[in-house]
Amino acid sequence: MPKVLAQGKKIKCIRGAKLSLILQQNGIDLYNGSARVINCRGIGSCGTCAVKVEGEVSAANWRDKARRSLPPHSPTTDLRLACQTEVLGDVKVTKFDGFWGQGSQIVWTPEG
Ligand code: FES
Repeated sequence: MPKVLAQGKKIKCIRGAKLSLILQQNGIDLYNGSARVINCRGIGSCGTCAVKVEGEVSAANWRDKARRSLPPHSPTTDLRLACQTEVLGDVKVTKFDGFWGQGSQIVWTPEG
């Protein structure tokens, strides 16, 4: 059973679980600031659920690639949209600052 390490919590989940749901169901602060209220609810259009993911996850789908190709995101960063990402093995998640999570300052790490 894969484990997700995020904001100091270790969460077990089924293989193929949607990363955004795992994080939200376990009280992880997936969104920054007002993006907690203003987001697309997981359809892959707003880009505010962007996180850095280390570990085995699904390949980026077209929604993930398309939204992250648009500012303020950049296709060259190693972020992923949590709402478009399935957990396939143990993963570590890091959140960066900015409304879209596009910043360079870490908000939280896998460890806390
Ligand atoms: S919640 Fe909007 S892109 Fe993921």
